[in-house]
Amino acid sequence: MNLGSVNGSSDLLDVVVTRRSRETASVAMIEFASATDELLPPFAAGDHVDVHLAEGLTRQYSLCNAPGERDIYRLGVMLANKSRGGSRTMHALKVGEKCRISRPRNAFRLREDAAKSILIGGGIGITPLMAMAYRLSDLGAAFELHYSARSKLHAAFYKSLSKSPFGSNIRWHFDNADGKTTFNPYESLADPSDSAHLYVCGPSGFMDYIREKAEELGWKRENVHYETFEALGPGADAREFVIHAKRSARDITVRANQTAAQALSESGMRISVSCEQGICGTCMVPLLDGEADHKDSYQTQAERTENPRFALCCSRAISSRIVLDI
Ligand code: FES
Repeated sequence: MNLGSVNGSSDLLDVVVTRRSRETASVAMIEFASATDELLPPFAAGDHVDVHLAEGLTRQYSLCNAPGERDIYRLGVMLANKSRGGSRTMHALKVGEKCRISRPRNAFRLREDAAKSILIGGGIGITPLMAMAYRLSDLGAAFELHYSARSKLHAAFYKSLSKSPFGSNIRWHFDNADGKTTFNPYESLADPSDSAHLYVCGPSGFMDYIREKAEELGWKRENVHYETFEALGPGADAREFVIHAKRSARDITVRANQTAAQALSESGMRISVSCEQGICGTCMVPLLDGEADHKDSYQTQAERTENPRFALCCSRAISSRIVLDI
């Protein structure tokens, strides 16, 4: 595979758009192949790639085709209402256009040894779960794929999923007349066991609801895995805290309604952010002291223990003050 180099960073892949179609009014399917006709690097279920769209504009998208396919990477891209430029640029891509992307990376790992897997996707959150479903189907593993969407017309990949080898494993949940999901957690999550694993991806409110119900129904925290695709701003319960920037010997207050990255930028510090979702690792800085409320999905639990770093775009503090090596 040809590796390119952009802005001094290496390990980027040169790819070309080979297919593009509209899945729903707001979701486009985009396929990339190698720009040099070589095979793409292998990827695992749950992997995503960073698409480098322009100077300083990088967006992360899950790969939704079958892991094992190396001729294409398939993405589903929703046009965000308040697009910060990423999804709009992606939707404007045409067949034949070249791009640079990262190698596939994983922050949403599938436990292939689970006795049963339950995959629950809301809206465009279905994409990483599709790759998981292909993989579990290949393995002959026991699983259910729950897809919650407003209607059939709003369900991206409806046709291809219906015809997929795991069509009978899919449970469709379209909203009722009141606009409420017909997904019933008391049916679908009724059987928590140590060897069952649950994967959730979708809008934050949807994920909070599923995680809350999973906890209520006795699912162990370590068996519930999730990935978001929205910018992670401060939640309603966010509190103010202070960052001591050790290298510049400054104290900066992060207000309840802003992220650490926003507070530091406001104070005049130069901060690099990209995904604003805790996925890409661009904004991670060493955490020297204090207790953090990690909200990123970039670090594993072991990494947080051994060499804790703090995601400026989304993480917050449990202690009133934290010390960062910046
Ligand atoms: Fe991507 Fe913070 S900007 S993890």
